[in-house]
Amino acid sequence: MILLMISAERLQMVELVNYRFDHRDSLVKLLNNPNVEKWLLSVPSPYTYKDADYFIANSIFDINIPDVRRFAIETGGIHIGGIGLRIKQNYYAEVGYWIGEEYWNCGYGSEALKQIMEIAFEDLSLVRLSAIVFEGNYASEKILLKCGFEYEGTMEKGRVKNGVPVDCKVYAKVI
Ligand SMILES: CC(C)(COP(=O)(O)OP(=O)(O)OC[C@H]1O[C@@H](n2cnc3c(N)ncnc32)[C@H](O)[C@@H]1OP(=O)(O)O)[C@@H](O)C(=O)NCCC(=O)NCCS
Repeated sequence: MILLMISAERLQMVELVNYRFDHRDSLVKLLNNPNVEKWLLSVPSPYTYKDADYFIANSIFDINIPDVRRFAIETGGIHIGGIGLRIKQNYYAEVGYWIGEEYWNCGYGSEALKQIMEIAFEDLSLVRLSAIVFEGNYASEKILLKCGFEYEGTMEKGRVKNGVPVDCKVYAKVI
């Protein structure tokens, strides 16, 4: 019985929705977590209500800016994470994503990535989607590989996190 319930939960679909101001409580709750924040390039820590308000306001405003697309990830109406595209020259985009720790390993990250790939390749007609992964982030590498991304190489000290240069792996899906 328990096994059946777990499989049903794993099958629950995710939805990518535009950010709304009622995502502020969940943003603060989910992002105020060093296990999530440490893998993200530019998330304030601690993450405050002011940070959430600023982010949501920018996301709503960014809807009208063609080179940035940001979505909250929801399942059954519950906010569980975020995903976004930064589009360059109308052909390429870099994808970034996170899922709240309490929802990890349920398939949500992979499903959200699949959906944003459809947006990138089908709706926006992009030809390349890349992701920059800090060395050691095996869960992120796993979902990229599961979604058909290929490892392209490592940028030594490719990004600076909290003032420390970190090695980054580049993954990309090219069509
Ligand atoms: C990366 C992240 C989005 C994955 O989300 P998720 O919803 O847990 O992803 P999924 O459940 O779809 O898949 C996770 C996969 O990683 C695997 N995994 C988890 N931890 C792992 C580890 N330490 N080593 C290897 N694989 C691992 C899981 O087994 C699962 O693979 P499976 O489906 O084959 O069993 C989530 O861990 C996260 O938000 N991390 C913090 C923020 C982050 O890293 N963002 C990405 C920056 S590049």
